[in-house]
Amino acid sequence: MESLLQKLHGKTATVGVLGLGYVGLPLAVEFGRAGYRVIGFDLDQAKVDRVNQGDSYISDVEGSFLGALVASGRLRATTDLSQIAQVDAISICVPTPLRKTKDPDISYVKQSAEQVASYLRNDTLVVLESTTYPGTTDELVAPILAGSDRVIGRDIFLAFSPERVDPGNPRYHTQNTPKVVGGITPRCTEMALALYSQVIGQVVAVGTAREAEMVKLLENTFRAVNIALVNELLLMCDRMGIDIWKVVDAAATKPFGFMPFYPGPGIGGHCIPIDPMYLSWKAKTYDFFNRFIELATDINGNMPRFVVTKLMRILNDRRQPLNGARILVLGVAYKPDVTDVRESPGLEILKLLVQHGAVTSYHDPHVPSLALGSENLLSEELTEQNIRSKDCILVATNHTAIDWALVARHARLVFDTRNALSRFEGPDIVRL
Ligand SMILES: NC(=O)c1ccc[n+]([C@@H]2O[C@H](COP(=O)([O-])OP(=O)(O)OC[C@H]3O[C@@H](n4cnc5c(N)ncnc54)[C@H](O)[C@@H]3O)[C@@H](O)[C@H]2O)c1
Repeated sequence: MESLLQKLHGKTATVGVLGLGYVGLPLAVEFGRAGYRVIGFDLDQAKVDRVNQGDSYISDVEGSFLGALVASGRLRATTDLSQIAQVDAISICVPTPLRKTKDPDISYVKQSAEQVASYLRNDTLVVLESTTYPGTTDELVAPILAGSDRVIGRDIFLAFSPERVDPGNPRYHTQNTPKVVGGITPRCTEMALALYSQVIGQVVAVGTAREAEMVKLLENTFRAVNIALVNELLLMCDRMGIDIWKVVDAAATKPFGFMPFYPGPGIGGHCIPIDPMYLSWKAKTYDFFNRFIELATDINGNMPRFVVTKLMRILNDRRQPLNGARILVLGVAYKPDVTDVRESPGLEILKLLVQHGAVTSYHDPHVPSLALGSENLLSEELTEQNIRSKDCILVATNHTAIDWALVARHARLVFDTRNALSRFEGPDIVRL
């Protein structure tokens, strides 16, 4: 009988992906593309149906490609978790959000580990991909999978491998972004390497699952802190009358020792605002307080308020109150060229504008409708007439599909929090 290692190397293994979201669906497609037979699992029947119809709901996954994989029988999706018994390896890609108290909500990881444990056969590899605090794989997932009668590293194999996918990035995607793996035992690392090196261009092994968990948190904390630094400098430059955008661009000409980060209306998405909180929560159980993380969270989290306060100042200079002003928020996804609005600063800005009595609307080519509290908003068309009818166009996200020349030409006032209109100058274009 073929061993697990032989099946992984020979691509005769069946690979499962649990959680078919932004991370799981592209990963399932890559496993299929590499030649494995893939079963995708999700509790959401609508997603499962769409995968089985070859209908992609993730912009980085092309529908025609997904359709071809499904038609060839290489990839299928199901809500029937008992089919986990058919897989030789399974990657867990479920959400890791925060609770209202800003503590980690690890319930999805726990639940999916229990689901996997109840159907898992021996000689199977399990890889946790969800971003989480160091220790989740060995303290939480390992005991659930081991139960009373399995030994990890002998009967089953468990590793952590952080997902680094950057949705909307035209250059780096799942296949060409190097992947880090760290197992509970050296044999577990070997198994995870065997799987991922068939699929991903470069795989980097670290000593333990904890190290692999920490790698991801270092990367995203690095981003959160650097964005906060430049946002704080923006607050200072605003007071000093210095154009921070020009400062960053000029500093970026230094060919070594500097990496540009740009200010903006705040941070969003499922990663940068959340992941550092997982780390600081865990650190507190060691009586360690991450001051950089707390500070970065505070500065970045307050940026939407600063945006609205500055808008009030700009309108005040024009003898106009924000109360009653017609403000169109341009771009509500958390970053350019994606559909994702989770934690998006654009939503916070919209809420604050409503609180201050502004007459709000939005346009986003990637977000046709938006739930804001109990209201459901629809994206307005970006026409000359509509732009002219607003007191201010507030740019919250710089999507490439937006006709910036049209905005610059017809807006009475633009408040640009992303430097999207850097090509245009004029008294009616005000940058953050
Ligand atoms: N979105 C990103 O850009 C990104 C990048 C890197 C890492 N991550 C991390 O990857 C993980 C997944 O994020 P995502 O953005 O793909 O989330 P997502 O919400 O897009 O997808 C998660 C999927 O898991 C499914 N699910 C939840 N519980 C389940 C269960 N018990 N069994 C089966 N399916 C279940 C949900 O229905 C959903 O389809 C998170 O830990 C996130 O931090 C995300």
